Amino acid sequence: MQVYDIREISGGVYWVGARDWNRRLFDALIPLPQGTTYNAYVVRGSEKTALIDTVNPGFEEELEARIRLVADAEGLDYVVMNHAEPDHAGAIPHVMKLSKDASLVTTEKGAKMAQIYFGVPQERIIIVNDDDTIDLGGKTLKFIEAPWQHWPETMFTYLVENKVLFPCDFLGFHTAYGSYGDEIEEFVPFAQRFFGEILMPFRKMGQKALEKIEALDIEFIAPSHGPIHRDPERILNLYRTWTAGDTREKVVVVYVSMWNSTEAMIKAMVDSLMAEGIEVSLHNLVNADLGDLARDLVDSRGIVLGTPTVLGGMHPLAIYAAHLVKALRPPLKYGVVLSSYGWGGGAVKQAAEILGPTKIEVVGAVDVHGPPTDDVYQQIADLGKQLTDKIKGQA
Ligand SMILES: Cc1cc2nc3c(=O)[nH]c(=O)nc-3n(C[C@H](O)[C@H](O)[C@H](O)COP(=O)(O)O)c2cc1C
Ligand SMILES: [Fe+2]
Ligand SMILES: [Fe+2]
Repeated sequence: MQVYDIREISGGVYWVGARDWNRRLFDALIPLPQGTTYNAYVVRGSEKTALIDTVNPGFEEELEARIRLVADAEGLDYVVMNHAEPDHAGAIPHVMKLSKDASLVTTEKGAKMAQIYFGVPQERIIIVNDDDTIDLGGKTLKFIEAPWQHWPETMFTYLVENKVLFPCDFLGFHTAYGSYGDEIEEFVPFAQRFFGEILMPFRKMGQKALEKIEALDIEFIAPSHGPIHRDPERILNLYRTWTAGDTREKVVVVYVSMWNSTEAMIKAMVDSLMAEGIEVSLHNLVNADLGDLARDLVDSRGIVLGTPTVLGGMHPLAIYAAHLVKALRPPLKYGVVLSSYGWGGGAVKQAAEILGPTKIEVVGAVDVHGPPTDDVYQQIADLGKQLTDKIKGQA
């Protein structure tokens, strides 16, 4: 395999990862419109060499070819595993086989996962705790425990002399384009959808992680997906807002409709919200991109869920979406349910059951026999006004 791009991002620090231009799905769930990268980095000190994270299974040869351009692939001293998910740790068996004397460096929880997932023997693992360091010779790796970014074992690595932070998934995003964040015309929607998909459920832990790195002098943020940030404050500020759960005067609308009765109700609600100046994002579950939905959940204050009754409950797509909303734990404050039924109903009851345990206050529901009538439209307009008042903090 021939490779050329082994970018030296800072003295003795090289990007040796892989671009996956063609990948279109992550976790068998989330669309990746622009593919992604698996970023791995070689750090060369005067005495020792470390590899920070690896790549997705299938990219081992590419990783090896890049390492060979900047280091002795058989002579790595340390392989740092910030996160055990296979998109970053999947090539660990390959590199540990190449460099027979290398030690794997990870957290206590990471050590267990490395044994279970990648068969790394215990005697080859160095467990690190908060603030532990490894000296490579003029280059010091400092480890920062950052659990739940995105799994329980996650940590960040900070290269003290070069002021580079390697936070793995945290502060990263999926795109195969560009090498540096400032080369990507508008990266915020991509970063936001990544945050919504995988880090939003652990917002409080994300805040703690941010506090831990607050005092660090950071020149580069080198995450394990997407481009490197040369302007760390930009992405850090976004994360400060998102982890705090700061919401906008925005409503995310999620619905499905078979014969358009629910859809007609949804359209009326959207119109009434927009007439009040509320920002609305609409997702028809028939062709919704779940990454876009996750992105909109990050900063929406309200949600409107629309579903007809199907076989005594919600439409299966709406059950799926409601479950996802619950699992992602967005900072939503207010909710509304709109529904149409043909005989006995049941969708609204099920929506209340699913959303009941969340912190979302259900402002109201409209459940209609068949298509909406003028009376129903009036009810929707009234409910839209109530939701608007809540969103604007006037109720
Ligand atoms: C496959 C299917 C199953 C349905 N199951 C129920 C049901 O169990 N209870 C009910 O009240 N209505 C049921 N209905 C009727 C729909 O809820 C009703 O037609 C509703 O107005 C459809 O809303 P929509 O136009 O938004 O799709 C079912 C309809 C279909 C197509
Ligand atoms: Fe991950
Ligand atoms: Fe990842």
